[in-house]
Amino acid sequence: MKKNIILIGFMGVGKGTTARAFAKKYGVYNIDTDDLIESKENKLVKKIFEKKGEAYFRQCEQDTADWIEKCVTGTLISCGGGFYKVDNIDKLGTVVLLDASFEWIHNRLKTAKNAKSKLAKRPLFSDEKKAKSLYKEREKAYRKVADIIVSMENKKLDEVISEIAKKCKV
Ligand code: S3P
Repeated sequence: MKKNIILIGFMGVGKGTTARAFAKKYGVYNIDTDDLIESKENKLVKKIFEKKGEAYFRQCEQDTADWIEKCVTGTLISCGGGFYKVDNIDKLGTVVLLDASFEWIHNRLKTAKNAKSKLAKRPLFSDEKKAKSLYKEREKAYRKVADIIVSMENKKLDEVISEIAKKCKV
């Protein structure tokens, strides 16, 4: 894999899970923008939001995108739900949108084994109504920056990763 694959999509759609399964099956390295920011800031995303505010976190995302553009190739990169807004997303690799309805995502998070922690670590999902309006606000924008769209609904994880590999010619 020469070019990076950039996985974007709404919180809880399954970017991390998909990335880990893809990395294992195709023997590639996978990094996650939230993990990169947490290690650089030495703070959980939730704490960055609480202590420094959302604008600071968005700047961390832009700095991460700049670093990826300069330094990273041949890597699978899963991104936080708001990362699609960085101004150089088109220069980072093939942008793959993992797509699903809000209801599907909400159900996935609610019924997960570790549902409590999945919801707790996502400050923007603490209020369902607000999360839904954020989803509506972003729906079109995600499609605009995506090179490839892969639906998550009614599919096994293995089917999702095969579809990504095929469409990205891995
Ligand atoms: C955010 C999504 C989160 C994380 C932060 C903000 C967003 O990542 O980056 O809480 O703006 O949608 P996940 O998509 O991995 O939950």
